[in-house]
Amino acid sequence: MPSTIVGLDIGNSTVRAVELKNPAGTKPQVLRHAAVTLPEGAVHRGEVLEVSTVASALKQLWSLGGFKTKNVVLGMGGARVLARDLSVPKAPIAQIKESLPFHVQELLPVPVSDALLDFYPVSEELGEQGPVVRGLLVAAIKDAVTSNVQAAMHAGLRPKSVDFVPFAVSRALAPVKHTTGRTALIDVGSSSTNVVVAWDGVPQFVRIVPSGGDDITNAFVATLQLDPETAELKKREIGLTAPESADDQVYAEVVHRAAVELLGSIRNTLNYYTSTRPHAPVERVILTGGGSRLRGLDAALAEVTGLPVEYSTALTRVGLPKQGKGADAAAPADIDIALGLALGVKP
Ligand SMILES: Nc1ncnc2c1ncn2[C@@H]1O[C@H](COP(=O)(O)OP(=O)(O)OP(=O)(O)O)[C@@H](O)[C@H]1O
Ligand SMILES: [Mg+2]
Repeated sequence: MPSTIVGLDIGNSTVRAVELKNPAGTKPQVLRHAAVTLPEGAVHRGEVLEVSTVASALKQLWSLGGFKTKNVVLGMGGARVLARDLSVPKAPIAQIKESLPFHVQELLPVPVSDALLDFYPVSEELGEQGPVVRGLLVAAIKDAVTSNVQAAMHAGLRPKSVDFVPFAVSRALAPVKHTTGRTALIDVGSSSTNVVVAWDGVPQFVRIVPSGGDDITNAFVATLQLDPETAELKKREIGLTAPESADDQVYAEVVHRAAVELLGSIRNTLNYYTSTRPHAPVERVILTGGGSRLRGLDAALAEVTGLPVEYSTALTRVGLPKQGKGADAAAPADIDIALGLALGVKP
């Protein structure tokens, strides 16, 4: 195992990296972290579209952060991956994984041959025809994985493994203090929102909701004909708080309408989880991701779900760098995913 590894989160709007010492040990420690903003269009819904643009951003990220290794764990998320519940006849895990292509075509929007498949067991049950393993099927579009790996390699990095972003969310966020009950871990990004329900830190259920913070910015652009920069500033300023002037009232209504859709999708996802597992309801929500910083989003989510909502404190559980190059370059709450990716390294 390498002594340090970098978790690399290629988001729609930003690339972020966290270098971790002892990633698989009992006391992992963040050595460095940094973030670099991407130009519009370089990444779309989790897939690198412009390999050379992203590669340059990654080179810039390495020099800004001063990372000492080129070994990375890459995350795949957004619209190019999906997760579904799947029950299969009980068998050794290697055998289950080998047989996936024969079980899952009807669950996929693309031919099996275009997808990379994986299976994460959650529990064992007695089905109608004998024992079954219930778990999560994860599928990623091969082309999307290839282009993200290519971007990293063009930047001179060495992708050691590719992980599923929702699992990184759960690794980083499933907090030690909540060891009982189900926790919904929600990462609100630019164009997608990862919803993971974890129990004792183990993901039980995953959905990627195709909405995020940019939907609200886009609503400003479409409804009020604002340019994207002004729309972004207005969104951050107003959020979901009560408007202070009549002018702000107009903006507040736009935010409200767009946020209601996003909140409704999250609530429906959690309701679906609860309706299929009434014996194990979700008990709390933990938020991360840039989109979750919309002012008042936590209170609004608490209202629509009826659950307590808090923000992630993942980074307070791992040692943070005291100071150093790049240490302030990323807001701690934004690097949860990169942290979770690095934490997933196997010894
Ligand atoms: N202070 C803030 N208030 C409101 N929204 C914010 C704030 N800061 C960031 N955002 C929003 O967060 C979103 C970006 O979130 P994040 O950086 O987590 O996305 P990403 O990881 O690049 O994208 P994705 O996960 O969808 O690939 C944007 O929509 C941005 O407008
Ligand atoms: Mg993201």
